[in-house]
Amino acid sequence: MRRLRRTPALRDLVAETRVWPSDLVYPLFIDDGSAARVPVPSMPGVERLSIEAAVEETVAARDEGIRAVLLFGIPRTKDARGSRADHPDGVIQRAIPALREAAPGVVVITDVCLCEYTDHGHCGIVEEGEVLNDASLDRLVSQAVSHARAGADVVAPSDMMDGRVGAIRSGLDEAGHEATAILSYAAKYASAFYGPFRDAADSAPAFGDRRSYQMDGRNTDEAVREVALDVREGADMVMVKPALPSLDVIRRVKETFELPTAAYQVSGEYAMLEAAAERGWLDGDAAHLEAIHAIRRAGADLIVTYAARRVARLLASR
Ligand code: PBG
Repeated sequence: MRRLRRTPALRDLVAETRVWPSDLVYPLFIDDGSAARVPVPSMPGVERLSIEAAVEETVAARDEGIRAVLLFGIPRTKDARGSRADHPDGVIQRAIPALREAAPGVVVITDVCLCEYTDHGHCGIVEEGEVLNDASLDRLVSQAVSHARAGADVVAPSDMMDGRVGAIRSGLDEAGHEATAILSYAAKYASAFYGPFRDAADSAPAFGDRRSYQMDGRNTDEAVREVALDVREGADMVMVKPALPSLDVIRRVKETFELPTAAYQVSGEYAMLEAAAERGWLDGDAAHLEAIHAIRRAGADLIVTYAARRVARLLASR
């Protein structure tokens, strides 16, 4: 077995798994009305960005070979129904045209969810302590349509309400946005690894948790059912999240549906590697590359990662 492991060129020649910068999706937190760049303490190297800084970051990422960004909005005000989520003057609605102009050809994907926009931090409409399913759909459809109107190529619902993909597909079509694609966060587990994201987006639930809508980490048949429903409702691409804790699910979803399959290496996965590297307990570059290749090897076609720029640079320098 060792004959083909002797030199870097031999190893590259027979490598089964390749990652290109164009497989990576770079998430950006765009903050309405704050300073240009505010570091997120639990995610070293990640910042909340003004629209102008997000434009700079997208151009820099594009110059490193990254061809897609995923936008999260942090609104200037939050309320019970997430009014800023579908506001024509919302931060995402203003950011999209600015990004498109500065970095034409980069795929603009937007996260569709209410938790960044609601004062209670849940992903839908809350009544008497319950997150309502059907009452949340109208708000999500309206948010998705407003992103499409602003020029998003792809909308990515991450709320995990039932029926939202079908509702969003109909809403987009009725509004004349039949070319806007849907990347559904189809198998999204309730995970402890989203903690740093909630710091970044100020979106931790004010009461309770997300286990009444996000999936139970003990299940994989349920993931297949979730994905099947989203595919039937019109999802063009499906996502599994988090990534490293769900490699088996990524593989099963890819093999079952043969659809473009995304994996989201989430905030906590990123933070773990960064924290250990900061202490000198891991080689950060090597650990990031290993994680991304493992996610790819499991079957992911596209990978959402906060380390996108770093990984792209590492891939180019090898
Ligand atoms: C919004 C959303 C979350 C993430 C992506 N979209 C937060 C959550 O569900 O609590 C997590 C991403 C990450 O941890 O990097 N619902």
